[in-house]
Amino acid sequence: MLSYKEIGLVNSRDIFAKAMAGKYAIPAFNFNNLEQMQAIIQACVEMKSPVILQVSSGARKYANQTLLRYLAQGAVEYSKELGYGIPIVLHLDHGDSFELCQSCIEYGFSSVMIDGSHLPYDENVALTKKVVDYAHKHDVTVEGELGVLAGVEDEVSAEHHTYTEPKDVQDFVSKTGVDSLAISIGTSHGANKFKPEQCTRDANGVLVPPPLRFDILEACEKMIPGFPIVLHGSSSVPQDLVQIINNYGGKLVDTIGIPEEQLRKAATSAVCKINIDSDGRLAMTAGIRDIMTNKPAEFDPRKYLGPARDMLKTLYMHKVKNVLGSAFKA
Ligand code: G3H
Ligand code: 13P
Ligand code: ZN
Repeated sequence: MLSYKEIGLVNSRDIFAKAMAGKYAIPAFNFNNLEQMQAIIQACVEMKSPVILQVSSGARKYANQTLLRYLAQGAVEYSKELGYGIPIVLHLDHGDSFELCQSCIEYGFSSVMIDGSHLPYDENVALTKKVVDYAHKHDVTVEGELGVLAGVEDEVSAEHHTYTEPKDVQDFVSKTGVDSLAISIGTSHGANKFKPEQCTRDANGVLVPPPLRFDILEACEKMIPGFPIVLHGSSSVPQDLVQIINNYGGKLVDTIGIPEEQLRKAATSAVCKINIDSDGRLAMTAGIRDIMTNKPAEFDPRKYLGPARDMLKTLYMHKVKNVLGSAFKA
């Protein structure tokens, strides 16, 4: 058993309390490899932002659980070496079993999500409470989820949103003891969050998706005042990145994300954590495709992963400064 405290990580409790009081949100960026971790830490150190390094079960399978944990441990030292030790949380994204959460806690994670949102309500409560009881013994914070996002949530896919029922949130939070709650208000995972027929067009012909359900967010906030809320599926799918990818041989179609102004607005509410993965994937892919197309003789991985890492860093700096509002809060 390794405690996250021994390696300099923090849980989410204090940073969420500060985010709530300061009306901003903490970035939760997914990572699977060295370059993504470097870009996240470089951006957040430069912006002096706290950060949540997020690991999915797919990331654990891809990269190996031990290596990812050492990368996170390295991130703590790396941020100090870059000149400013920011608060770093190592968080399990969409944990689907007690055993997975327990294993992550034993490996040095400081925060876990137990996602029982697809289960009947009482089973979600029971599973989440079991994880909370174990996690809190180790001062690890726990995120639960109520409501189902449309699209693909790990291996489960749903055709339509099941919005969170505000009437359930107080009961869920008090029965489980969770530290934060992910809710469903119209965001979804991936780069195709809406079908074009669900959108309208603005004066320039750009597709505008239906707005997030701020009414549900506000109703949830009223039920659990001052309690940290989490938004998953919050990539904005920048069309300039999509265009670079498609100009250089990609085939992304009907990509539509959550407009940044809406996330900015959400970040000023009780939303304390905003999850962004797909936008990072797009930035990295755009960087790699650019080099592959424009410098076809290049075969040193550092020569295409390095520029891709720089594009990622630029994206993360923009998110922290202009969307989440967490710059200079570390
Ligand atoms: O919510 C899911 C995250 O984007 C992680 O995706 O399971 O493909 O690693 P993944
Ligand atoms: P995106 O696919 O919108 O980036 O969402 C990521 C996420 O919610 C990770 O849990
Ligand atoms: Zn998610």
